[in-house]
Amino acid sequence: MALRRIKIFDTTLRDGEQSPGCSMHINEKIELALQLEKLGVDIIEAGFAASSPGDFDSVKVVAGLVKNSAVASLSRALVADIDKAYDAVKGAVSPRIHVFLATSPLHMQYKLKMSGEEVLRRIEESVKYAKSKLSDVEFSAEDASRSDRDFLKIALETAIKSGATVINIPDTVGYCTPGEMYDLIRFIRENVEGADRVDLSAHNHNDLGLAVANTLAMVEAGISQAECTVNGIGERAGNASLEEIVMGINTRPYLYNAETRINTKEIYKTCKLVSNIIGVNLHPTKPIVGANVFAHESGIHQHGVLAKKETYEILSPEAVGIPQNKIVLGKHSGKHAFSEHLTAMGYHDIGAEKIQELFDEFKRLCDIKKSVSNKDIEALLSNKKLESNLKYVLDNFVINCKKGNAYAAVSIKCGEEVRTAIQDGDGPIDSSFLAVDKIVGKSFVLYDYGVQSVGEGRDALGESYVRLALDGGESVIGRGVSTDVIESGILAYIDAVNKLLA
Ligand code: KIV
Ligand code: ZN
Repeated sequence: MALRRIKIFDTTLRDGEQSPGCSMHINEKIELALQLEKLGVDIIEAGFAASSPGDFDSVKVVAGLVKNSAVASLSRALVADIDKAYDAVKGAVSPRIHVFLATSPLHMQYKLKMSGEEVLRRIEESVKYAKSKLSDVEFSAEDASRSDRDFLKIALETAIKSGATVINIPDTVGYCTPGEMYDLIRFIRENVEGADRVDLSAHNHNDLGLAVANTLAMVEAGISQAECTVNGIGERAGNASLEEIVMGINTRPYLYNAETRINTKEIYKTCKLVSNIIGVNLHPTKPIVGANVFAHESGIHQHGVLAKKETYEILSPEAVGIPQNKIVLGKHSGKHAFSEHLTAMGYHDIGAEKIQELFDEFKRLCDIKKSVSNKDIEALLSNKKLESNLKYVLDNFVINCKKGNAYAAVSIKCGEEVRTAIQDGDGPIDSSFLAVDKIVGKSFVLYDYGVQSVGEGRDALGESYVRLALDGGESVIGRGVSTDVIESGILAYIDAVNKLLA
C-alpha cells in the first residue's frame, strides 16, 4: 500500500522565534529559511508580518528567495493583519496566509471577550477575506484541544465553507495526551463536514513533554500536515520537534503508513544551525542529534553493537547527516581533495573564492592541530560565514594576566584603518571585551558568555558564544571559533557587535 505524504510545516521562524532568547537577525532568518528549503520542508512559516516592521521585512525577503517550499505568514483574524500577511508573502512561488482565532471557552471569554456567534462571524469574514487574496489559506482554531467539541465542529465547518484549505488543530498549551489528540482528529474526520477536502494539521506544544507523541498520534489518526520547529524551540517548553517527528515517521513508516519528503541527511546541519543562531547548545541526550545518541558507554551495549549494530541502535548517524569525527585530511592534502571533501560533507554551493579562504584556514589549522576532523571543518565553515558579515574584524590581541586581573591590547580592522585599545579587567575575557567596547566607542551589555570544545583532545577548537545588547535593546548572539579560546571569545564578541551595529 502506498504511504501517505505528511507535509512538514516548519514554524521555527515564527512560533520558535517569538519565544524569549530566540530572536534572530534578518540574515540569520534568511540563512535558516534557505536551509529549511534544502531540508525539504513543505511550508515555511516565515513570521507574523503584522507583528512588527522587522517581521514584515523578513517574511517578505524569505518569500522572495525560497522557491521549493510554500511560504506562510501568520495573521490574526483581522483585515489589517491579513493585508500585511498578503503583502509580505505575495512574492512567493507558493504563498499562504495563516489566520488564527481562539475557539475555547476560556480564550473566548477572557482573552477575546467575544461571544461564540461573534467568533464564528469573525472566522467567516477573515477566512473569506484571506481567500479573496490567495488560494492557499490555513485556519487555526487556537486552543482547539480545550474547545467544546460541538462548537469546534461549527467553527471548523465555517472556516472550510469560507475557503480554508488547511485546518490546524493546536494543543496551544500542551495540555492533552496522545489518546485525546488521536480521538479529537477521529472526531473531526467523522463529524466535520468538508474535513475530507482539506489538509488536517497538528500543532502541539510541549508543556507536559508530549508534543511529539501527540503529533505522531494525530498522524495515526489521519492528519496530513505536522507543524513543528527545529530542536523543538518555542513558547514556554517549546513546540513539537521537527527532527523527532520526521525520524519517528521515517523509522516506522509502516506503523504510521506515512512518509515525508524531508531529506533526513540535512537534519543535523539544520539543528546545528538553529543551535548556533540562538546560542543554545544541543543537549547531549537530545533525541536524534544529541552527542550521546550514538555513543555506547556500557560494556553490554558496546558488545551488542559490535556484534550487530541494530541490537542497540535504531537510527544511524549517517541517516541524519551527523559527520563522523574521523581524521579526514592532513597537512599534505591538496585543495582539490579538500574541495571534494566539502562536497562529500554536503556543502555543494561554496564559491571558489570562499574555498580558497577555507583551504588557507584549514592549512593553518593543520599546523596547530595534530588531526583535523569533519567537526573542525564545520567549525571553520561557520566562522567563515560570520566573517563575511563583519564590519569590524579582529586584527590581533595581546593578553597579560595574573589571578584576578588582566590587561588586554586588542587591535581591530575597521575598513582600511586598524584601531587599538588597551584595557584592564577582571580576567582576559573581561579586559578584551572592554577593549573592543573602547574601540567601537559603545558600552554593550553582556548577558551571557560560554565556550565549549569542538571534538576531543587538548588541541580541540574552542567555540565561544556571547549574548550581547545595546541600550536595553534586543540581545543578539555572536559566535567565534579558534584553537585559542580567548581568540574565539573575542571573535564571538566582535560578531555580536557587528550584528548590533548592522
Ligand atoms: O499554539 C498555537 O495555538 C499557535 C497558533 C497561532 C497556531 O501557535
Ligand atoms: Zn503555537
